[in-house]
Amino acid sequence: MSWLQFKGRVFVENHHLAVPFHEMQPVRSRGLSRKASLHDNLIVEGDNLAALKALLPTYQGKVKCIYIDPPYNTGNEGWAYNDNVNSPMMQDWLGKVVDREDLTRHDKWCCMMLPRLKLLRELLRDDGAIFVSIDDNEFHRLRSLMDEVFGEENFVATAIWQKVYAPKSSARHFSEDHDFVVIYARDGEKWVPNLLARTEAQDSVYRNPDEDPRGPWRPNNLAARNSYSKGVYSITCPGGRKIDGPPKGSYWRVSKERFLELDADGRIWWGEGGNNVPAPKIFLSEVKQGRVPQTLWTYQEVGHTQDSKREIISILDFDSSNDVFITPKPSSLIRRILQIATDKDSIVLDSFAGSGTTAHAVLALNQEDGGNRRFVLIECEDYVDSLTAERVRRVAKGIPSARDESLKAGLGGTFSYFRLGRPMRQQSILDGSNLPSYEKLAGYVFFTATGEEFEPEKIRKKTWFIGRSRLYDVFLIYEADMGKLKDMALTLDVARKLPRGKRNKLVFAPTKYLDQEFLYRYRITFQQLPFQIYEAFEKLAK
Ligand SMILES: C[S@@+](CC[C@H](N)C(=O)[O-])C[C@H]1O[C@@H](n2cnc3c(N)ncnc32)[C@H](O)[C@@H]1O
Repeated sequence: MSWLQFKGRVFVENHHLAVPFHEMQPVRSRGLSRKASLHDNLIVEGDNLAALKALLPTYQGKVKCIYIDPPYNTGNEGWAYNDNVNSPMMQDWLGKVVDREDLTRHDKWCCMMLPRLKLLRELLRDDGAIFVSIDDNEFHRLRSLMDEVFGEENFVATAIWQKVYAPKSSARHFSEDHDFVVIYARDGEKWVPNLLARTEAQDSVYRNPDEDPRGPWRPNNLAARNSYSKGVYSITCPGGRKIDGPPKGSYWRVSKERFLELDADGRIWWGEGGNNVPAPKIFLSEVKQGRVPQTLWTYQEVGHTQDSKREIISILDFDSSNDVFITPKPSSLIRRILQIATDKDSIVLDSFAGSGTTAHAVLALNQEDGGNRRFVLIECEDYVDSLTAERVRRVAKGIPSARDESLKAGLGGTFSYFRLGRPMRQQSILDGSNLPSYEKLAGYVFFTATGEEFEPEKIRKKTWFIGRSRLYDVFLIYEADMGKLKDMALTLDVARKLPRGKRNKLVFAPTKYLDQEFLYRYRITFQQLPFQIYEAFEKLAK
């Protein structure tokens, strides 16, 4: 396996493990749901590295389709490397806009992408897939990173999106008419793309000149180039013409016996006069009811960049001369991805959300097919409320001026808005600064120890119970108060009050005053806060 070398690689290879878990703080006024929930449609405000990590406890292995549209690194997007990696060289990169003159431009981009791709992979379901928009600036480096993180055996395809409808005559060399969409499955053996709906143009080639009761059909070629020992024989047409055999260098594609059977069943077309080269009929009713996805996505089918600009301007009342957001994708492009890669109840994640096109496409497709797909969007820029969330609020509730009837009436749907809060660092637990709330720490220890979803409503704080996993009932003895925490421990008294039963108990506490034999008898596995949490997580993440 050959891996891409770039400056900073050694520092970012395991950076995703060192990123602390952050609290997720609901901002109810910005969402559309009465009660904010991590199980709702989500818009998360914050850097996606920390946000993806914060989503792990709830979404690990749950996301069916990821679409990301990261900076293409063209040199004029104004992005800056901002990950707080422990390396003097990289600390020096922080906050500096990556422009064309920057000789470490590609290194920075790879350092930014690698840990994010690693976390994104953790979030995917076994039968899920990731779609990444990119252009030639970083296409080849992206492919290498994706091979490394997802495995080259899980590469599915690179689709070409024809993004413009007319060539740019001012181009220096070639007019660049396309972007790429790079597609990898989490597991190529398990991921199966959906067939796309057939188009009218495809169906229109099926006709029924002989009024066959089986319905419209199209003629197939009887001759093929593949060598076939039984495919050489003469044929006499019903009109009397004799055909000595297949054209030179080809073979009839069926044996003589099969040919006669097909003819007896009215499945051979001999032309109006009965003297054409015979053609087997392919009936529309017998072809696959959908079409397999292809790698060329034309603007007629999935829209172009002008469409996306018009779309966003019409939704947000932007002045068209005002380039508030210059790189939206058309919702029809994302819809194509959703059609290929989601079921009606899938979770869809976009961690470079921009103008919220992915949420728009999810809501539109749900409305069209009665689906219940959910979206999770992450955006770090200031416009996350005024642009990302505002677009979703408007398309959900309805836009009176929209030409499209369903947009006018509103696509429906709600979402919860979360902001990344404080990091939960083990150091802060030790020294008492920024102690996380009981519920936050419960989510953290439950997930890190069990790898299973944490359900906050299961907490019974009176008995320190925080949830049930496949193997354990899990307990957390903790208060977000340094004074109380100092005196908290798994004592005889506390242990006796834990619910009885045959299930094994996993108990997190600052310390314990019990011997091993007692713990064994009471089926208790003790985990000291906070070091074991960290170790357990590292084991899980490997
Ligand atoms: C090319 S745009 C995506 C456009 C989007 N597909 C659309 O249709 O509107 C990339 C977006 O990713 C966001 N972004 C870049 N780095 C990020 C990060 N580290 N965390 C969260 N968002 C980020 C940028 O602010 C920008 O809005």
